[in-house]
Amino acid sequence: MKALVTGCAGFIGSHLVDKLLDLDYEVTDIDCFTDYYSRAIKEANLSNALDHNNFKLIEEDILNMHKFPAVDYVFHQAAQAGVRASWGKSFEIYTRNNIEATQKLLELYKDFAIKKFVYASSSSVYGDAELPMKEDSLLKPVSPYGVTKLAGENLCYLYWKNYRVPTVSLRYFTVYDPRQRPDMAIHKFVKAILNNEEITVFGDGTQTRDFTFVDDAVDANMLAAKNNIIGEVFNIGGGSRISVNALIDEIEKLVENKARVEYIEKQKGDVRDTWADVSKAKALLNWNPRVDILIRICFL
Ligand SMILES: NC(=O)c1ccc[n+]([C@@H]2O[C@H](COP(=O)([O-])OP(=O)(O)OC[C@H]3O[C@@H](n4cnc5c(N)ncnc54)[C@H](O)[C@@H]3O)[C@@H](O)[C@H]2O)c1
Repeated sequence: MKALVTGCAGFIGSHLVDKLLDLDYEVTDIDCFTDYYSRAIKEANLSNALDHNNFKLIEEDILNMHKFPAVDYVFHQAAQAGVRASWGKSFEIYTRNNIEATQKLLELYKDFAIKKFVYASSSSVYGDAELPMKEDSLLKPVSPYGVTKLAGENLCYLYWKNYRVPTVSLRYFTVYDPRQRPDMAIHKFVKAILNNEEITVFGDGTQTRDFTFVDDAVDANMLAAKNNIIGEVFNIGGGSRISVNALIDEIEKLVENKARVEYIEKQKGDVRDTWADVSKAKALLNWNPRVDILIRICFL
């Protein structure tokens, strides 16, 4: 079996590559190593894969590519991530990498006989929707990033509807593990608490997030690829919903150090809470998140 992983050097993409290689897939991988965070971190993410015979890296921007490989599965993880940076002039980076790049891939793969095109969407498409968030909730993103991820999802749907590109979208809810992006809370908090540095919390810390361990997100990709369900959207949330303050308490216990926290104003684009209703993914994909945050955080 052949697979393409876009955004392969990123946090989630690199885990997906490792999983596919373990399963003996021939994996072609695209990443342009955007400067959102350090190249060294991305190279480290690929350290397992780089020596593998079935791993082929194309270091290129999707939008600059003229030819794409014929594969059975496309896992489209590449994007400009991050909610808070998506305002103002930077929005161009988001429309380019999240909307135009997705459209380019779909346009191209409409002429290939692929088995599945799995798109990495986001809980950010919900905005401040009623809890728990369900796939058919009203979608009102409150960040420019969320708007671009929703546009990507809509593109997947319309290429399915019009051209029968077999797309499925997975709405990830805050994914974590030690490779987590350096701009994300767990990564920043663990590092700061270990080094006696101050943590900045936006708002009063009572806001909640539904955390998802990366292996569960990778499993969801594999199940979505192999399943015969097409044109659908699924919530992928770990079921470990806790407040930011409770998260800090847990990290304090684990690293045996006290956090120094500065509370500042809530940031534009941040939602108050996230909480996934995952009954659809359980029922149709047979997906069950296996890792609770309170257990898994011990391994960080
Ligand atoms: N990490 C999370 O908690 C989370 C939550 C919801 C959704 N997502 C989505 O999951 C996907 C992966 O997120 P991540 O946290 O691993 O992000 P990441 O930033 O670690 O990885 C994204 C990768 O895509 C690459 N990329 C971006 N634009 C590209 C382009 N035009 N051409 C080629 N490569 C390009 C970047 O260089 C980067 O390595 C993204 O689509 C993101 O929107 C992530």
